[in-house]
Amino acid sequence: MTIPASEENGGGVSIRPAERADLLAVTHIENASFSQPWPFDAFERFLGEPGFLVAEYEGDVVGYAIADVSRNFGRRLGHLKDIAVHPDRRGVGVGSALLTRAIAVVTAQGADSVKLEVRRSNDRAKRLYREFGFEPLRRVSGYYEDGEDAIVMLNKLE
Ligand SMILES: CC(C)(COP(=O)(O)OP(=O)(O)OC[C@H]1O[C@@H](n2cnc3c(N)ncnc32)[C@H](O)[C@@H]1OP(=O)(O)O)[C@@H](O)C(=O)NCCC(=O)NCCS
Repeated sequence: MTIPASEENGGGVSIRPAERADLLAVTHIENASFSQPWPFDAFERFLGEPGFLVAEYEGDVVGYAIADVSRNFGRRLGHLKDIAVHPDRRGVGVGSALLTRAIAVVTAQGADSVKLEVRRSNDRAKRLYREFGFEPLRRVSGYYEDGEDAIVMLNKLE
């Protein structure tokens, strides 16, 4: 697939809030992307939240992101909880478009920084996050069920 490049969103890709009708496609991409995928009902719980976003290309859901905001010692902290792009649709800017919008959503909700956890071995995701200004904050030993460590990354939005 060739998606025409665009400065803003990978071209031809639209980012919009997720709807119930998207959930099967979302869980399909989740299952294809992670060894410990979230179940269907985990996504269901985020329906209606502004930070549950899908990327659509030619009528198909090709990726999604989930971000929310929590209070943390009087500040609002954004959290990127999940992001994935269909394996056949990676490398053309869909993930960047989702990340851009997810950061905009949590910023609009008053977050002054965004954190995320990423597998230590997930170099591609880490590189993408660094391009967006995320910096490694700490390592969490054995964070994932298979024993792999997580790297917590933080993006100070100011
Ligand atoms: C991580 C992930 C979401 C990135 O999504 P993506 O759509 O491939 O991301 P992008 O296309 O925006 O950027 C990825 C690469 O494509 C490049 N790219 C961006 N726009 C491009 C374009 N128009 N044409 C060609 N390449 C482009 C980027 O420079 C980047 O290059 P890099 O791999 O050298 O860093 C995706 O790889 C994925 O779903 N992985 C599995 C799930 C996962 O690991 N999620 C993260 C959990 S923490």
